[in-house]
Amino acid sequence: NKYAVIMAGGIGSRFWPVSTAAFPKQFHDMLGTGESLLQRTFSRVNKVVPSSNIYILTNENYLNITLEQIPEISKEQVVLEPAMRNTAPCILLAALKIHKNNKNAVMLVAPSDHWIEDEAAFASDLELCFKTCSEKNILMTLGIEPTFPNTGYGYIEAEKQLDSDIKKVRQFTEKPDYETARSFLNQGNYLWNAGIFIWSVHSITESFAENMPGMHSLFSEGTAVLNTSEEKKFIAENYARAENISIDYGILEKADNVYVKKASFDWNDLGTWGALHEKLNKDTEENAIVRAKTHLVDASGNMIFTSGKKLVVVDGINNYIIVDKEDVLLLFPKEKEQEIKSLLSEISEKF
Ligand code: GDD
Ligand code: MG
Repeated sequence: NKYAVIMAGGIGSRFWPVSTAAFPKQFHDMLGTGESLLQRTFSRVNKVVPSSNIYILTNENYLNITLEQIPEISKEQVVLEPAMRNTAPCILLAALKIHKNNKNAVMLVAPSDHWIEDEAAFASDLELCFKTCSEKNILMTLGIEPTFPNTGYGYIEAEKQLDSDIKKVRQFTEKPDYETARSFLNQGNYLWNAGIFIWSVHSITESFAENMPGMHSLFSEGTAVLNTSEEKKFIAENYARAENISIDYGILEKADNVYVKKASFDWNDLGTWGALHEKLNKDTEENAIVRAKTHLVDASGNMIFTSGKKLVVVDGINNYIIVDKEDVLLLFPKEKEQEIKSLLSEISEKF
């Protein structure tokens, strides 16, 4: 009864110039291990969920890359979105498809672009959540001990029963402003939302019916054609009519049956070059180097990422993102990494 959906439709714009709309970061070998982030996610999930029960949700432009990278799955297991509508619509669609196959299914929702090294701990957390969700009508998320007021995450206020492994969520707040995030950290009983969810297909579809009735009825109309050859036509005609909203705003902030399990593994959402720098092995001067032959003199704290074809010589540059791609060379201060997203829109207007 265990299923998984891997979300792989984002663009990863803060990882430009490596991540682009044509080839986003989840399909890249960002860690220099020989596997893309999606491939690593798939094998991590596959330790618990059989490959025949794993679906990948992505934009229709990425069908070929997805099948090339994950030969273990069939075309029918790739749910293709004709438009970008954030995570709520694709999760509902996948839940309805799985529900039609198996009314007692429990499903994992996993982002495709995170760093999780301890696969055994991930698997055991997952088993516990699957078991709990198959017995109770609840929505579960994995929580991470916060270390700073990151405004790019969802915050989970847990009930203060510190003895139990799984806690009821009092309030879920997606992407608070800085001051709010700071006050959450000071209060102590808050966790970051890892964006990894576990629930029964029954519980999540019911929660959509209650909290997002418009989207629920839009997609439920197609139940008869889901998993048939007519599904594609239904999706083409209706998907873009769905509200553009994330599961966090659409469901988690509103539902009152949300529970959290504190993750027993180290986690990083690899959202920026700096986050990647943090997670990689570094030389004695704190330079993280992916696929580059380097000669470094006065160079420290740099994130150096290349295709591996050139020798990179650096002297007098510290705390920079240095990315060499065939068509772009980026030299950018690491402390301004969040600005790469807006930089990208400026640049795409110009070139
Ligand atoms: N299929 C599909 N379609 N996937 C999508 C889409 C889409 O339209 N949009 C985003 N995704 C995928 C991304 O590739 C990523 O794997 C995942 O869904 C989450 O989307 P993000 O855009 O990365 O979300 P976020 O980082 O702003 O926020 C979420 O993750 C945080 C932790 O990393 C939220 O769940 C936060 O609450 C959470 O803290
Ligand atoms: Mg993210």
